[in-house]
Amino acid sequence: MTTKAYETVLVEITDGIAWVTLNRPEKRNAMNPQLHFDMVEALTWLNTDTESKVLVLTGAGESFCAGMDLKEFFRELDDKPVERAASRDADKRWGWYGLTRFSKPTIAMVNGYCFGGAFTPLIACDFAIAADDATFGLSEVNWGIIPGGLVSKVVTEVMTHRKAMYYACTGRSFDGKEAEAIGLITSSVPRDQLKAEVTALAKDLMEKSPVVLRAVKEAIRAVTHMTVDQAYEYLESKQEQMRFRDDEGTRNRGIAEFIDKKTYRPGFEPVGKK
Ligand code: COA
Repeated sequence: MTTKAYETVLVEITDGIAWVTLNRPEKRNAMNPQLHFDMVEALTWLNTDTESKVLVLTGAGESFCAGMDLKEFFRELDDKPVERAASRDADKRWGWYGLTRFSKPTIAMVNGYCFGGAFTPLIACDFAIAADDATFGLSEVNWGIIPGGLVSKVVTEVMTHRKAMYYACTGRSFDGKEAEAIGLITSSVPRDQLKAEVTALAKDLMEKSPVVLRAVKEAIRAVTHMTVDQAYEYLESKQEQMRFRDDEGTRNRGIAEFIDKKTYRPGFEPVGKK
């Protein structure tokens, strides 16, 4: 096991999974400038680290992340434009770009409170599994601010317009089951099953060819804002590119096992390498 403790973030790599824990439990893991800087460093390292195959983002204690630190990120930087710009830049670099372009699959494990600015890294992760009793909220309206950073943009990518408008304007909170129902997360499970569910998903993902999985992730994200014609072109090119990048020969092996050897039928065994 490899462990690295930053001032506000803890990284533990076990059995191929990098558990990245936002680690300010006394502040419910609210994101202060230091946390943004620590996360940029952690993701830069993990993106090319060879020990980990999947990244899980979670929070210490009873909170996933209570959003931006209202004291250290907002109030204390209001009149410090340089420091504010540095924090915003770091926030952007890990919370959206770092995660959405991460080379390996990413899973948000929502163990408790998830508010405001936390929606950006939540949505940036490829998968999100929450405890049924986790509490989500677009609470910004209560603080006289808008869901800024990128929050307003990214919630409308996963929730319907109606739900995004409703929760952003009322600031009402909701639980894991509702988060699943409105498309904000992948699934919601009883709290005592949360870590097991996340670990099981991570293990399934680790069974796939990392090169193929990365290309699938990139394709799903890339086509979101393309026209149909652009998507056809992009996916055709990507498919061709895979014939050169698939260094484990997954395509030829898979087709041979199905067509020639008749040893594998993905319709019955959707997960795992043969
Ligand atoms: N920014 C700064 N500090 C925060 C914070 C935030 N977003 N969220 C929590 N904290 C701090 C509290 O000020 C408190 O600090 P203190 O011990 O120095 O007084 C500490 O974390 C614990 O918070 P507390 O409210 O006592 O914990 P709780 O478990 O009763 O409630 C929350 C947890 C998350 C429900 C509650 O803290 C909350 O509503 N936070 C604001 C969340 C939010 O609106 N975020 C969006 C910001 S744009």
